[in-house]
Amino acid sequence: MGYARSQIILHWLVFVLIAAQFIGHEPIRAAFGVWMKGGESAFSPLVAGHVAGGMLVLVLALWRLGLRRKHGVPPLPEREGPLGRALAHLTHGMLYVLLILMPVSGAVAWFGASQTAADGHGLLRFGMLGFVALHIIGALYHQFVLKDDLMARMKRAP
Ligand code: HEM
Ligand code: HEM
Repeated sequence: MGYARSQIILHWLVFVLIAAQFIGHEPIRAAFGVWMKGGESAFSPLVAGHVAGGMLVLVLALWRLGLRRKHGVPPLPEREGPLGRALAHLTHGMLYVLLILMPVSGAVAWFGASQTAADGHGLLRFGMLGFVALHIIGALYHQFVLKDDLMARMKRAP
């Protein structure tokens, strides 16, 4: 049993969306700053894109969790030791938590004009960066050190 095609497509779609959120956050930062000081800024597609892209991440993350329940996920490689297993479970779990908390905190900041939520949103990005980095290191470790072709699971459905 492997990941379903839909799980693989959603995995890479969310990766692209998250990368775009990180690359293109400056316009919403500027607009939020102006708004919190009581000013008005003109409509910007980049600001709307951050809001829409982030909300889409939330919807897709919930969809992915639904697919995990329905379809399950393949077991970790047999050779994986207890530390590797614990790290994989922690990383995947935390990635889902962050895929939900980042858009929710962003939405509370934006729609509720909350500086506290914005500060939380800003802090959560370090968690996201950290766990994505750990996740990528894990994938590269499997690929080039353990050489068990784990990447193939996220490339095509069996
Ligand atoms: C925003 C970035 C990313 C997020 C949030 C993310 C999230 C996840 C999650 C939650 C899983 C667990 C399976 C699932 O529920 O779908 C997973 C699996 C996987 N990801 Fe990522 N991922 C990201 C980027 C990447 C990148 C850049 C790579 C490759 C270098 C990668 C390679 C993999 C592989 C190989 C698996 C399967 C692991 C296994 O079956 O044990 N991911 N990813
Ligand atoms: C997974 C989804 C998201 C990611 C990865 C993300 C990422 C980011 C990043 C990296 C920043 C810059 C933070 C800083 O420099 O302090 C930012 C700022 C911001 N984002 Fe998001 N974001 C997401 C979703 C959303 C959503 C859905 C909304 C609104 C509905 C939103 C609203 C904001 C606002 C208002 C700021 C400016 C906060 C400030 O200036 O303190 N974000 N976002």
